[in-house]
Amino acid sequence: MNSTVNLRLQDKHALLTGAAGGIGLAVASAYLDQGARCSVADMGAQPTPELAALMSAHPDTLQYLRADVTQLAQIDALIEAAQQRFGPISTLFNNAAIFDMAPLLESGEAMFDKLFAVNVKGAFFVMQKVLAQMVAHQVQGAAVVNMASQAGRRGEALVSHYCASKAAVISYTQSAALAMAAHRIRVNAIAPGVIATSMWQHVDALFAKYENLAPGEKKKRVGAAVPLGYMGDPTDICGAAVFLASAEASYITAQTLNVDGGNVMS
Ligand SMILES: NC(=O)c1ccc[n+]([C@@H]2O[C@H](COP(=O)([O-])OP(=O)(O)OC[C@H]3O[C@@H](n4cnc5c(N)ncnc54)[C@H](O)[C@@H]3O)[C@@H](O)[C@H]2O)c1
Repeated sequence: MNSTVNLRLQDKHALLTGAAGGIGLAVASAYLDQGARCSVADMGAQPTPELAALMSAHPDTLQYLRADVTQLAQIDALIEAAQQRFGPISTLFNNAAIFDMAPLLESGEAMFDKLFAVNVKGAFFVMQKVLAQMVAHQVQGAAVVNMASQAGRRGEALVSHYCASKAAVISYTQSAALAMAAHRIRVNAIAPGVIATSMWQHVDALFAKYENLAPGEKKKRVGAAVPLGYMGDPTDICGAAVFLASAEASYITAQTLNVDGGNVMS
């Protein structure tokens, strides 16, 4: 790394949830490249091999912390442990989420509870508790980036609970941005379109079941339907994730930025 280069996240401490793989891990790597120290949280007892490789490359600036974001006590312990090593958290990449789907008339209470526990309750309380410590420490240049989805922009017959959970993320982003404006803490979100991660393996399998498609067919179709012509890669989210966390976005708050190859126009 060239120390004369002006890094966008120099001296920041970023907490990234659900970042042992997929989009979160790609963003952790981008934040490290921009000079941040990163605390990565996820469910596993051990880091994934991909995360372990990144940790070997950044032994002094990257740590893994196990936490289930549905458990408020674990969120408290996560924030405490993150701060203990790298100091007050200045950047939150609030990313942990799960996907499930079923026809609306079959979308029962168990699916609702499971999705809302992670995608809404977990996302809200991680954000609230990190914001509280940002306020308490009067962190300068603090920013939250929530992970919404194009699914939060409009409903889908087969995906009602997930769509609603991501609409909630967009709404909480707006409320939190207004609540935190006086503290100069910015709160924004990213709404990805379709990104090739393990989550999409799961999505593809479910669409295959409910739309009677061959495995891989839905993924191929949605990729081809993107105006830019292809399904995104996790690294396609990194530019927006760095930008919204950085001083370059200092006059941007309460926004949800579509990063989706043109799928949604707003
Ligand atoms: N992949 C896409 O096409 C796509 C599109 C739109 C939005 N998103 C959103 O982007 C974010 C990242 O998705 P991804 O595609 O990288 O998926 P992913 O499944 O690879 O990553 C999600 C991570 O969250 C973790 N997680 C799940 N429950 C958790 C919990 N209770 N506590 C802590 N961690 C938990 C998982 O272990 C996993 O590592 C999610 O918020 C997702 O909804 C993804």
